[in-house]
Amino acid sequence: MTSSLSGKTVIVIGGSSGIGAAVAQAATARGARVVLAGRRLTSGSDNGVRSEPVDVTDSASLQRLFQTVGHFDHLVYTSGPSVRAKTLIETDLDEAQDNFNVKLWGALRAIQQALPFLGEHGSISLTSGQLGRKLAAGQFIKTGINAATEALGKQLAKELAPRRVNVISPGVIDTPAYAGLAEEQRLAMFAKTGETLPVGRVGQAEEVAAGYVLAMENGFMTGAVIDIDGGGQL
Ligand SMILES: NC(=O)c1ccc[n+]([C@@H]2O[C@H](COP(=O)([O-])OP(=O)(O)OC[C@H]3O[C@@H](n4cnc5c(N)ncnc54)[C@H](OP(=O)(O)O)[C@@H]3O)[C@@H](O)[C@H]2O)c1
Repeated sequence: MTSSLSGKTVIVIGGSSGIGAAVAQAATARGARVVLAGRRLTSGSDNGVRSEPVDVTDSASLQRLFQTVGHFDHLVYTSGPSVRAKTLIETDLDEAQDNFNVKLWGALRAIQQALPFLGEHGSISLTSGQLGRKLAAGQFIKTGINAATEALGKQLAKELAPRRVNVISPGVIDTPAYAGLAEEQRLAMFAKTGETLPVGRVGQAEEVAAGYVLAMENGFMTGAVIDIDGGGQL
């Protein structure tokens, strides 16, 4: 069967690393023309995959990206900041605001700039995270950003119809997001977290990427939040 992504153009904002890079690989394997975007990328093409620079905190940078690519079919947004766990009282709120600016406001900015170029039968896939609904002391930034992303995903699924909008909610996934930890510390954290999960391990970026592919390909799916977290919400 031909994939419904075959010949479609998919822009992955956050495609320079981790989950976004895995989505780009999965979409390319299904015949999509993929454009990766992120701050560390430069304009170019590698093995048929195009790259463009973008900073999601800057509307003009997003506008340039969409003007350069032109008409496209699916927007995937996986850009996210590195957030340190801290209680509200310990937190510098300017720093917290910067985190919201990348992941939440960045997604809204990207959608606003993308709409004139996004096909009517296209889709938008946003990214939340299990802390949006799994509450833990010291995680108010991730909870706030991810809960808001899930609410906005549902609201925008109504407002932007017939374009579809879905949200993918990953659990703990082994990506460069944890590169700031020493290897021993990172592996110990993954092992400890894995023990608490029904599946007995943390996830891989490719496993989460499958959720974005589903959201792009399934024309009956909109307003959904897809949990891919090894049972972390249970
Ligand atoms: N890994 C997990 O355990 C986990 C769990 C729950 C939710 N999530 C969510 O999943 C998403 C992807 O995370 P990941 O694990 O794949 O992390 P990652 O490997 O660190 O990737 C983060 C991506 O965000 C991009 N980014 C950051 N600031 C940006 C900016 N100002 N403009 C444009 N792009 C920017 C980075 O690209 P550049 O550096 O090139 O700009 C990078 O591609 C994030 O929203 C994260 O919160 C991850």
